[in-house]
Amino acid sequence: TVYLNHLFAFLVFSLISVQPTILSSKTSFSVNCYDQPVRVDPGQDAVLNCNVIPSLPLEGLEVEWIEAASGKMVHLYLDGEDAPESQHYDYRDRTELFNDQIPNGNVSLKLKNVNSNNAGRYRCTVTFESQSVQADAELKVNG
Ligand SMILES: *[C@@H]1O[C@H](CO)[C@@H](O)[C@H](O)[C@H]1NC(C)=O
Repeated sequence: TVYLNHLFAFLVFSLISVQPTILSSKTSFSVNCYDQPVRVDPGQDAVLNCNVIPSLPLEGLEVEWIEAASGKMVHLYLDGEDAPESQHYDYRDRTELFNDQIPNGNVSLKLKNVNSNNAGRYRCTVTFESQSVQADAELKVNG
């Protein structure tokens, strides 16, 4: 699949770029989301699939999901816990990460009871040890 090709390309790239001077200016992890938009009917739940490679320790790890267009905070996860007080009202009680999967690098977002206003791009930003990496996933809502 395209996803595995990207992973393979990333691994090859990592292997051939082992030069300390170059490495020091690069991030030590990547965030990858599925290329294909997720399509759901209104009222359904949607999962926006992304993962971090390699997986990272939970301590000091921040995973942030926002609406790419508006910047609204969709979900924030910090140091092993959700931070629902930071999230925009529109998303209250409607989001989940797969918390038991985060140690494996799975930072996918589950958005419940989707409506047509929720269509668009979502941006996942992973921050660890002062490095931030982001990737977008797209949600389409059938009308
Ligand atoms: C993340 O975990 C959920 C629940 O097990 C699974 O449905 C989903 O496919 C996983 N996504 C990735 C990117 O690993």
